[in-house]
Amino acid sequence: MTVAPHFDFKNGVLHAENVPLPTLARQFGTPLYVYSRQALRDAWESYRLAGEDRNVLVCFGMKANSNLAVLNEFRKLGAGFDIVSGGELARALAVGADPGKIVFSGVGKQVWEIQAALKAGVKCFNVESEAELAQLARVAGQMGVIAPVSLRVNPDVDAQTHPYISTGLKENKFGIAIEDAVRVYQYASQLQSLRVVGVDCHIGSQITEVSPYLDALDKLIVLIQTLAGLGIHIEHLDLGGGLGIRYTNETLVTPKTLLDQVFERLAAKKLDSLQIVLEPGRSLVGNAGILLTTVEYLKHGDAKNFAIVDAAMNDLIRPTLYDAWHSVEQVSPAGHDQVRTYDIVGPICESGDWLARDRRFALQQGELLAIMSAGAYAFTMASHYNTRPRAAEIMVDGDQYHVVRPRETIESLFAGETPLA
Ligand code: LLP
Repeated sequence: MTVAPHFDFKNGVLHAENVPLPTLARQFGTPLYVYSRQALRDAWESYRLAGEDRNVLVCFGMKANSNLAVLNEFRKLGAGFDIVSGGELARALAVGADPGKIVFSGVGKQVWEIQAALKAGVKCFNVESEAELAQLARVAGQMGVIAPVSLRVNPDVDAQTHPYISTGLKENKFGIAIEDAVRVYQYASQLQSLRVVGVDCHIGSQITEVSPYLDALDKLIVLIQTLAGLGIHIEHLDLGGGLGIRYTNETLVTPKTLLDQVFERLAAKKLDSLQIVLEPGRSLVGNAGILLTTVEYLKHGDAKNFAIVDAAMNDLIRPTLYDAWHSVEQVSPAGHDQVRTYDIVGPICESGDWLARDRRFALQQGELLAIMSAGAYAFTMASHYNTRPRAAEIMVDGDQYHVVRPRETIESLFAGETPLA
């Protein structure tokens, strides 16, 4: 039975590709992030096919999962990268990413980050305010280089997703309001050390309809035409990331559906020679990973039953932060105990430390659970809260597996701290 592509039950035991998850738990302990290399490749393939014979650049939104093994896999497949910090730039360069395929997003780029990106020679800065534009022009001028820029335009469309991950509405902190865009583009085009190359937007995340993208596209097409009339020629249009994945039974928009419709509209306006840049994060990695955890204790009560596991909100914060649903699977269901309704909770001293609520299981102490869809925004959002080392990350490849990041040691967590004499 397939739970997610490349995570299947074989002989009653959940596997990642050909590797039984209990084998990994025995060898590396839990909690443990387990990724499927083939699932990464398949996710990439759906973008590649969608962009085939078209001028499309896919820049992996690496905030979703920035492990070097994941980045290197995508780099070899031809991906560019969407970065939001000097740290992410360093990771991209560490796997030999082509700077000409890196776009630099984010509302608060600092001077050192701008300098590092200019030095590397990134494809484009996605600029989010006039103040940032001025700063970028100043830093580039001092370095004697020309900075390629897009303005991240806020098209004021509703991505119909969770408020915390919706970014294209007026009330969000992101981007430059579409009404101001022409004026700010004119300002940018006058700055000596800048070269206007694109238009950018990103309207939100976990989007499950095409219409918000098309609403944004229509507004951006008008902008691009207006700019052309003013002598400002746009080479690429970056539509950001945001395609959703299946956490439960969502119906999804495929990259092909999205790009077919985007190019149809561009062709109708004779703009199909524009390069389209996409910045998918979640849809490339989300379902390629799971978080493996052990049931430490069962606690049965009048009001609630709790399964206390060894993973916690510091390993996967999405449930408590966004009220997000992650499927939970028993790795080797024995099926003989009494079925009860459980909250799956971690050991952290917070009532918000839960991973799943009201799930029906017949659980036993010591058994393994797999928290599904933990390939995106899981490890990258992990913390050390309660002095918990971050869990190891394993990449499964057929019947092989590799530690792509070992479990942190407790000593390393306070190695840099110094008590005063
Ligand atoms: N580009 C920009 C400028 C972004 O801000 C993001 C995500 C992406 C691309 C990638 O979006 P994706 O394809 O992954 O939807 N932590 C939240 C998601 C935050 C998304 C932030 N921006 C979560 O766990 O749901």
